[in-house]
Amino acid sequence: MEQMVAADRKGIAGAVDILRAGRLAALPTETVYGLAADASKPEAVAKIYAAKGRPQFNPLIAHVADFEQAFKLALYSKDALKLTEAFWPGPLTLVLPYLGDAVCDLARAGLDTIAIRIPAHPVMQAVLKEFGGVLVAPSANISGHVSATSAQHVAADFGDKINLILDGGATQYGVESTIIDVTDQPVLLRAGAITAQQIEGVLGQKLQIKILHDPQNPSAPGQLSAHYATHTKLRLNATQIDADEALLAFGTPLQGAREVLNLSASADPVEAAANLFAHLRTLDRLNAKVIAVMPIPETGLGAAINDRLQRAAIGSGQ
Ligand code: TXA
Ligand code: MG
Repeated sequence: MEQMVAADRKGIAGAVDILRAGRLAALPTETVYGLAADASKPEAVAKIYAAKGRPQFNPLIAHVADFEQAFKLALYSKDALKLTEAFWPGPLTLVLPYLGDAVCDLARAGLDTIAIRIPAHPVMQAVLKEFGGVLVAPSANISGHVSATSAQHVAADFGDKINLILDGGATQYGVESTIIDVTDQPVLLRAGAITAQQIEGVLGQKLQIKILHDPQNPSAPGQLSAHYATHTKLRLNATQIDADEALLAFGTPLQGAREVLNLSASADPVEAAANLFAHLRTLDRLNAKVIAVMPIPETGLGAAINDRLQRAAIGSGQ
């Protein structure tokens, strides 16, 4: 298959070209294969959610080549630093307070924290070094399927929905990275390739465990409680507009709003997902009385967009 290429120099250069162009490449890591995209480009990140068929925008893990880049993305507590020294590069993901603007809102699902890891796999390392920026990469499987541990698994799940699969053979661990939230007291969010005992050994203390089980998506700690709310009241499924309202449009805009931003003039849900968080932020800064949001069909990424809008609406206007 043309899409599956050897993870040699040429294959790695090809993957970097694809990622720079805002497209998707499946890459081997030491845990499972990841479906990677440029973390700074919401339109590229939206393609990940579309390809995976995720019902919601779960936040994604930011993968970086080295400590220098990792330290630019977040604030590290003493405990966090101990864990990075012991386990990076490697199959440990840390959730930390986010700093900077290198990772778009959509990739973080609008959270003010960020999940980061430095992968150890030589192919992933080579791609990250040559790419030079941050890659987000969820496990390269369709939502609800098990994670892919070989290039063939990835191809079986996605077919031609992704542009390139770098074949790096079977992955070493075959389970995902362990996720620890170190924004405050260390909390285990996902059991993974590094055991809780190993982590407790380094920290010199017991870990709290807060694995949130969602039957639809068993390893999705980030999605449940957190949501992005606007200060301005959100009015969903608007079919007409008052003059003092700002409008978040989808397709042909309703007439009469004081300000309009369009998620997608051509009613494309992938484009709409890419614009969602940025447009909400921009409209929120206008201090309009209300942000009216046009209805978005539940098809494709529309379901995830509506899920985020509903969460945002609940906390809005406060
Ligand atoms: O081993 C791995 O971690 C693989 C490889 C490809 O690196 N990646 C992976 O990604 O498993 P994914 O997207 O399938 O799982 C990431 C998990 C999700 O459950 C998400 O909810 C959680 O990390 N997550 C991401 N950002 C978070 C945050 N800010 N707070 C809490 N949880 C977060
Ligand atoms: Mg996964």
